[in-house]
Amino acid sequence: MNVKIASSILTADFSRLGDQVREAIAAGADFIHIDVMDGHFVPPITIGPLIVSALRSIADETDTILDVHLMIEHPEQHIPSFAEAGADIITVHVEACTNLKNTIQHIRSLGVRPGVTLKPNTPLNTIEEILPEVDLVLIMSVEPGYGGQSYIPSSTEKISRLRQMLDERGLTHVELEVDGGIKAHNIAEVAAAGASILVVGSAVFDDAASVSWNMTALRRALACS
Ligand code: DX5
Ligand code: ZN
Repeated sequence: MNVKIASSILTADFSRLGDQVREAIAAGADFIHIDVMDGHFVPPITIGPLIVSALRSIADETDTILDVHLMIEHPEQHIPSFAEAGADIITVHVEACTNLKNTIQHIRSLGVRPGVTLKPNTPLNTIEEILPEVDLVLIMSVEPGYGGQSYIPSSTEKISRLRQMLDERGLTHVELEVDGGIKAHNIAEVAAAGASILVVGSAVFDDAASVSWNMTALRRALACS
């Protein structure tokens, strides 16, 4: 399977965000993953539609997907502004939606690819019914809220079970994305469990090495899966 890398900008240097994003794309990032937090669903407040809109022109120049992960309460109230800002994918948390089906249909009606995600302790049966309606399922492999956390080992089994569910139902077009704690040492394991998109934040932007060096190390490790 051709596994894609989504660079999460959460731990990027925001004083030179454009340059960092261009560097990640030049080094092979397929998607730019944008973590939106509201201070309610998760404690921190991060990014709003203004940043999505600012990154849209870079995404257009480089043919890159803007992957927006909404960690917010009442996501339905904010979907139009993220769609307008230029999100290609909008992913909502099952725990935050009062009517998940309506929310997913709303995202699609605005010409955006809908995704659903769940926290590490939320079981897969909460998203079983919605699987035929979404383009992407995001498995959180850390508690949402912060970059730089460690991968929760039991996520690997959850990824395998979801891969099996998607395959058994003929939903192989649905992307299986994994988010949190992915580094060069475990990226091959996560890919082998059945992920098709890997979100990587601090292993791209945080360390002493350059973004391009980090991306190359991740790609090399992935080639071993
Ligand atoms: C956590 C975010 C992740 C996070 C990934 O709530 O959804 O996207 O930034 O960062 P790392 O790769 O550092 O775990
Ligand atoms: Zn995320």
